[in-house]
Amino acid sequence: MSDLTHEALALDAADGLRAKRAEFVLDDDTVYLDGNSLGALPGAVAGRLADVVEREWGRLRIRSWTESGWWTAPERVGDRIARLVGAAPGQVVVGDSTSVNVFKAVVAAVRLAGEGRDEILVDAATFPTDGYIAASAARLTGARVRAVDAADMAAAAGPRTAVALVNHVDYRTGRLHDLPGTTAAVHAAGARVVWDLCHSAGALPVALDADGVDFAVGCTYKYLNGGPGSPAYLYVRRELQPRFDSPLPGWNSHADPFGMSAVYEPADGAPRGRVGTPDILSLLALEAALDVWDDVDVTAVRAKSLALTDFFLRCVAAYVPAGRAEPVTPLAHAERGSQVSLRCTGAEEVMAELIRRGVVGDFRPPDVLRFGFTPLYTGFADAERAARVLGEVLGG
Ligand SMILES: Cc1ncc(COP(=O)(O)O)c(C=O)c1O
Repeated sequence: MSDLTHEALALDAADGLRAKRAEFVLDDDTVYLDGNSLGALPGAVAGRLADVVEREWGRLRIRSWTESGWWTAPERVGDRIARLVGAAPGQVVVGDSTSVNVFKAVVAAVRLAGEGRDEILVDAATFPTDGYIAASAARLTGARVRAVDAADMAAAAGPRTAVALVNHVDYRTGRLHDLPGTTAAVHAAGARVVWDLCHSAGALPVALDADGVDFAVGCTYKYLNGGPGSPAYLYVRRELQPRFDSPLPGWNSHADPFGMSAVYEPADGAPRGRVGTPDILSLLALEAALDVWDDVDVTAVRAKSLALTDFFLRCVAAYVPAGRAEPVTPLAHAERGSQVSLRCTGAEEVMAELIRRGVVGDFRPPDVLRFGFTPLYTGFADAERAARVLGEVLGG
């Protein structure tokens, strides 16, 4: 057994989050490092979903909208997520996809902006959907999009800026951007900020209220383990809620949805971010998945995430032949999310071979191997094995 294997076992034995792994459906044959794309299944979800289908839908049918709490689920589940992103209750609503919530937030932010503010700043390396949606939002509102590196967003915001749309963690490189500093600088320029938390919520502490964030969106199928296509969330800061003018004012966001008025009157608070009928099965699967967080402190998750990614980087340096796979994820903790991305020639084939050998990460064009570390269920032995198998594949 190598020194790193010994060290991994010792680190796992000392890991305070180790017991959490048993709450997930995982097999020991596979090292699953793709929880930053699709989180693993929490074991309790299947039973809860069976109850929703058989009893709530099957027997109670329409009564479940009230008796089983279906109607209020978007806000109830939103409040569970709020705790994980540093938001007081009443500001997060769950529903739709991240793409749709980006649209709501960006258009609403432009509508809130003062006279002469017609610029939407978009993180130049953004996950593509945010860029596509921002471009459409610009066409609809008469604004224009300017692409800026996330690190330069603070300096770029100016008197024409209505809103800056920024990814908290870059999906490709795993770089963590400065949320408090950028938010403060964008505010100093008189503009609003929309943060995309897809790759940070559930992986590291986020303090939306304390940092004065205006709007935030994120998906729930990555570190929050909500399941494939589980609904996303929208945070609208409490002070902005009365002026939040949604571009998708569906009947679910009406002050009196069952009044069936021909005239739209927006609801107060978080429900104003709703659109149409919620996707109840996915929403309640997500709610059950969130139970794993009940006794978890996100600062402990962050500490383990950094220890895991540090250890993985050391193992890669030890096992992988020099020059075959170079980290593009920053080494500085303050700039690192919960993944390690390695630039590697032939990355697509290399990842396919890793998966054949039981190490599941993913590939992002043109040449990036991504390994996501989900502290609730990833251990140090997983990190060591993944790096060792990578070394074998790359001829170490
Ligand atoms: C940073 C980021 N934003 C947005 C999305 C898209 O989310 P959705 O498919 O829920 O619209 C993703 C999906 O992986 C993402 O990683």
